[in-house]
Amino acid sequence: MLRDEKSLGAVDLEDGSGGGGGKKTSRWPGFVHFVFILSVVTCALFYAPRFLAPSFTSGAGIDFLPPSLSRAAGAQGQGDHGGVSNVVKEDALVLDNEVGSPCASMPSHGICCDRTDFNTDVCFMAGDVRTDAASLSLLLLPPSHAAPNATAVSEERVRPYTRKWERHLMAGIHEVRLRAATPDESASDQHRCDVVHDAPVLVMTAGGYTGNLFHAFNDAFLPAWLTVQHLRRRVVLAVLAYNPWWAGTFGDLVSRLSDHPVVDLLHDKRTHCFPGAIVGTRFHGILAVHPPRTRDNRTLADFHSFLAEAYTDDAVVKTPATNTASRRPRLGIVSRKGTRVIENEAAVAQLASSVGFDVSILETANGAPLSSEFAAISALDVLAGVHGADLTKLLFLRPGRAALLQVAPLGVPPIARGCYAAACGMMEVHYEQYDVVASESSLRRRYAADDVVLADPEKAKQKGGWEITARVYLGGQNVSLDLERFGDTLRKLHSRALRLPVAA
Ligand SMILES: *[C@@H]1O[C@H](CO)[C@@H](O)[C@H](O)[C@H]1NC(C)=O
Ligand SMILES: *[C@@H]1O[C@H](CO)[C@@H](O)[C@H](O)[C@H]1NC(C)=O
Ligand SMILES: *[C@@H]1O[C@H](CO)[C@@H](O)[C@H](O)[C@H]1NC(C)=O
Repeated sequence: MLRDEKSLGAVDLEDGSGGGGGKKTSRWPGFVHFVFILSVVTCALFYAPRFLAPSFTSGAGIDFLPPSLSRAAGAQGQGDHGGVSNVVKEDALVLDNEVGSPCASMPSHGICCDRTDFNTDVCFMAGDVRTDAASLSLLLLPPSHAAPNATAVSEERVRPYTRKWERHLMAGIHEVRLRAATPDESASDQHRCDVVHDAPVLVMTAGGYTGNLFHAFNDAFLPAWLTVQHLRRRVVLAVLAYNPWWAGTFGDLVSRLSDHPVVDLLHDKRTHCFPGAIVGTRFHGILAVHPPRTRDNRTLADFHSFLAEAYTDDAVVKTPATNTASRRPRLGIVSRKGTRVIENEAAVAQLASSVGFDVSILETANGAPLSSEFAAISALDVLAGVHGADLTKLLFLRPGRAALLQVAPLGVPPIARGCYAAACGMMEVHYEQYDVVASESSLRRRYAADDVVLADPEKAKQKGGWEITARVYLGGQNVSLDLERFGDTLRKLHSRALRLPVAA
């Protein structure tokens, strides 16, 4: 099923704006339009509330853990004390991989929610977990040896998405209930297992802004990986708003996260039984992984490895490295359509070639599946492009080696940096930002040289707010790069690439 739908979904993944999942698929027109608008926003909306309301983020300050907690987490990962059975048992019970979480040491039977994070709530259920499709609930049945009333009846509700501060979006995410079964429910036959799984379930959603590549990774797949990678694919994904486009587009990631078929939670009316459940996903920041927050000290480079495993066909043999002397570093230029276009792209490509790069133009609407995008981008020394969701593909670049060159149009530099600079740092990918000046912006054709839009974008944004950023700077601007100044940047990145040892 996944395979058949893959070609369909992949064809439509990206339009020039970096959004627009399923554009030609008549089934999702409203969705696509919605996503297209949002794609203008890229991660800026994300950035804004954190930036404007620093006090809200205090709950997320898990970065500064007391050392005792860090040590406890380290010990957990070692598994070198206690018998084998003890280790196995411990492994089986660790649902929450987050250091310092209130749910980190759950009993073997219970419900626990961590609502301390600004962006996301995650709930855990340990014990005999059963789905109840009619009420979109996970029921926790009492252990067989327990007194019938042993479990206090309690209920938690959670919408599994990582933007809990964004009210209108979250209203569209299905709310999942986690509750202890009543004694009557436990006794009745109604919740007999139709399907018994030997792995815990992760409930996540295919909804939200998943049609935009930035959001697909930032809101959904990186968080899902953060939440369940420690289970080593011994987890069942139960997906809300499951749809063919999502299944086709992200099938490689789904089957790398989990060894099991996906449960379509809204449509599958059977009772599925699990030894545990996680509802919702962890979030460490914009395209971020904070190693000290994970029990196993994971990094964003580990997420890159996960992507490499998902997208790389084992059968494909890597091309042997050529010798250093004759090597031309490879530069890919992201070719957007519609907005934030490089109007002199051919001249820029020519320039890069004359500097000494092998240049490829990366079309954004060519329908290539993400696996082929991965292959193309992981082979690059430099990924260059104007700010947009496509640059999320920096996650495909080789950690410790490659460089991202982000072109920031007029008025966009802070947003550009806020979206991608930190992620590059976490991957040890070199980050370079080229800030366009007024003479390189297409806005010079629309505004007088002394207009505040051209002369002082920061002031214009203070006055015009988000509207002017979205409509003018992000939505109404192309660039034409100054070949001399851009050439300097290219030469710098070229000699950097040559200085690196030839890749193994
Ligand atoms: C168990 O719960 C039932 C109702 O849910 C109540 O009638 C009964 O007294 C309880 N038994 C104990 C031992 O608490
Ligand atoms: C986590 O990993 C980094 C490098 O990847 C290492 O320097 C650090 O010591 C590790 N920390 C722990 C607690 O294992
Ligand atoms: C930017 O370039 C594209 C493609 O050439 C064009 O369709 C669009 O109208 C241009 N936008 C502006 C603001 O000039």
